[in-house]
Amino acid sequence: MSVEEAAQTLPVSVLSGHQPLLEVEDLRVRFVTRGRRVHAVNGLSYRLEAGRTLAVIGESGSGKSVSSRALMGLLPPAARVTGSARFEGRELLGRSEKQMRRIRGAEIAMVFQDPARSLNPTMRIGTQITEAVRAHAKVSRQAAHDRAVELLQLVRLPAPERRFHEYPHQLSGGMRQRVMIAIALAGEPKLLIADEATTALDVTTQAQIMRLLAELRQRLGTAIVLISHDLGLAASYADDVVVMYAGRAVEYAPASTLFARVRMPYTQALLGAIPRLERPPHAELPVTPGQPPDLTALPAGCPFAPRCPRATDECRTTAPPFTEHEPGHWWACWHPCEVGGDR
Ligand SMILES: Nc1ncnc2c1ncn2[C@@H]1O[C@H](COP(=O)(O)OP(=O)(O)O)[C@@H](O)[C@H]1O
Ligand code: SF4
Ligand SMILES: [Mg+2]
Repeated sequence: MSVEEAAQTLPVSVLSGHQPLLEVEDLRVRFVTRGRRVHAVNGLSYRLEAGRTLAVIGESGSGKSVSSRALMGLLPPAARVTGSARFEGRELLGRSEKQMRRIRGAEIAMVFQDPARSLNPTMRIGTQITEAVRAHAKVSRQAAHDRAVELLQLVRLPAPERRFHEYPHQLSGGMRQRVMIAIALAGEPKLLIADEATTALDVTTQAQIMRLLAELRQRLGTAIVLISHDLGLAASYADDVVVMYAGRAVEYAPASTLFARVRMPYTQALLGAIPRLERPPHAELPVTPGQPPDLTALPAGCPFAPRCPRATDECRTTAPPFTEHEPGHWWACWHPCEVGGDR
């Protein structure tokens, strides 16, 4: 069985029951440019319930951003997207740009890593948020202004009335990210996708922004997809975690289950790379040797095999299916780690 075939064995069909907020099923994205085919997402499936936080974790290049941009219709024309992504039961894939524009911001909003580039440097903060409010609701200038100030208070921007009249360069990185979150919330979306939204920030500011997102989720009921390369972040803030490798899900579980009972060797390697208190500062972290696979030529077997200490011949020839091995706990591995084993 190839990786592609193995990914067909999917969680979603089995996890029946009520309708989730977001249901991604067998999502595939490839880029076809100058004769090269990059298989960026290779059969990704997950579901997210309303008001919950799902962390999508994986190394750089594992397809986290491409998969979430695919949902939003934000990929370049070279992208070929197949599969399904239903939001409140409605299919997102294959919609026109006009239809997607109605969904973006009003139903699903996204916050990116680099607020400096997402904000307009020549426009005052307040104007940018006011415009975002007016893009989603037909309200008077005054009402939009008041709502914009409210949003700045909601994201706990210090001195919001003063900041309202400032330009992005006058704000710190953390404050700019708060402004981006305020803009994202202007349309009162049900889902916020935060793509490495705190990666560029220092540790203290990162924790403040993460706490803010958690608080917003509680107050507004906004579900969050938390995209990060940092499994530690998922441990602290997510309800559920999906770990991606080479464009597919390799382990998926509620966060508490995943961290207590990690089974997939790749997830275990990521866990080993989380800094621990007992390690001396600046000590070298254990990292998995080797590189992620070439996405233009995926191997026949398990894509993690070249880097996996548990790999056997079977792993190199046949990709393991992604299946629910324990209630709520999915993984794709022929020789999973023992629970409670040394990590
Ligand atoms: N426009 C594009 N054309 C070709 N390949 C792309 C394009 N965008 C992303 N990719 C490739 O898709 C893969 C997944 O990228 P991405 O989703 O950005 O990874 P992550 O967010 O997990 O770091 C990478 O190999 C990347 O080079
Ligand atoms: S044990 Fe085999 S199937 Fe499991 S991750 Fe390692 S190489 Fe892949
Ligand atoms: Mg990314």
